[in-house]
Amino acid sequence: MSGPNKSYDPVEVTPLNAEEIDRFVTEAIAAFAAATTVAELKEARIAHTGDRSPLGLANREIGALPPQARKDAGKRIGQARGRVNQALAARDAEISAAELEATLRAERVDVTLPVATAPVGARHPISGLMDLVSDVFVAMGWEIEEGPEAESEWTNFDALNLNVDHPARTMQDTLFLDPPSDHLVLRTHTSPVQIRSLLNRDLPVYVLCPGKVYRADEFDATHVPVFHQFEGLCVDKGITLGHLKGTLDHFARAMFGDVKTRLRPSYFPFTEPSAEVDLECFVCHGESVNNPDRPCRTCSSEGWIEWGGCGVVNPRVLIAAGVDPEVYSGFAFGMGVERTLMFRNSAADMRDMVEGDLRFSRSLIGQAR
Ligand code: DAH
Repeated sequence: MSGPNKSYDPVEVTPLNAEEIDRFVTEAIAAFAAATTVAELKEARIAHTGDRSPLGLANREIGALPPQARKDAGKRIGQARGRVNQALAARDAEISAAELEATLRAERVDVTLPVATAPVGARHPISGLMDLVSDVFVAMGWEIEEGPEAESEWTNFDALNLNVDHPARTMQDTLFLDPPSDHLVLRTHTSPVQIRSLLNRDLPVYVLCPGKVYRADEFDATHVPVFHQFEGLCVDKGITLGHLKGTLDHFARAMFGDVKTRLRPSYFPFTEPSAEVDLECFVCHGESVNNPDRPCRTCSSEGWIEWGGCGVVNPRVLIAAGVDPEVYSGFAFGMGVERTLMFRNSAADMRDMVEGDLRFSRSLIGQAR
């Protein structure tokens, strides 16, 4: 800083020279304009308005001037500082607004975007239908019984009155487990659970047995080598074919709505008499019968569709399971779950049920319940 001075002209003190001061202002304004971020503007502010800036240093020179010159120089510096501060404030407003705008843009949330839903799994329609069937029987006071899938030959065949030369006992139909000396098969039906229930439970017995069964079958639209059945067994005093018919009618209505059932004489070694359970065709309700103008593909214009097998429990089966046929009698029935699903949900191809395509399962979710 220059020492006190009473005579010299401020114009001659270079930093206070009007042109010089204009240059400081121009440089400051240019530096503010060049700054593009709040941080850069801060640097420019310190460089051009701080104590050590050209204007700050010029200001210090004022004290050394004679009174009149001090007044002029003070005014000039004050105006220059005013212009610089104004430019600084304007640029600060611009940059802050731009930065806020950029932040808002970067952090923008589109509330109209669909939420990312994690796909939740679903029960397979076969499992759903087995639960539904179980519920119908549990509601009538029946219990659920499950047996093993690897079953003894005795329970799967002998105890059910299927003797050794029965065709079902050939390798062609049945999957035997190694070693053959164990006499184990993959159960070919759920009927062996009848024997297990009678051996394990106290009488009377009212059980429904849903589960997987295995046959050395082709894999086509109506056959799969692993499928599902449910077996019903009731053994009590005074049970007749009438109880069987009433139970099946109730069950059919719970599955298919207002349909009739028909018992058609048939043969099964474990029931006597035996019958096939037919359902009245739920598409044409019998109207296609003898009516060439209204053919029905579902029942082949026969008016009835085969659903499963049933009958009065053969006394030989009761004896094999240690039940006295003089005191007790019973009825049994067995149906395919896949077949029931086909009727109930118009699923035409059994292969869809095992191939695991989610579109199939999803299309039936809710329907099977
Ligand atoms: N077990 C038979 C089958 O797999 C179905 C069946 C028929 C079960 C008659 C029964 C019955 O309980 O009484 O084809």
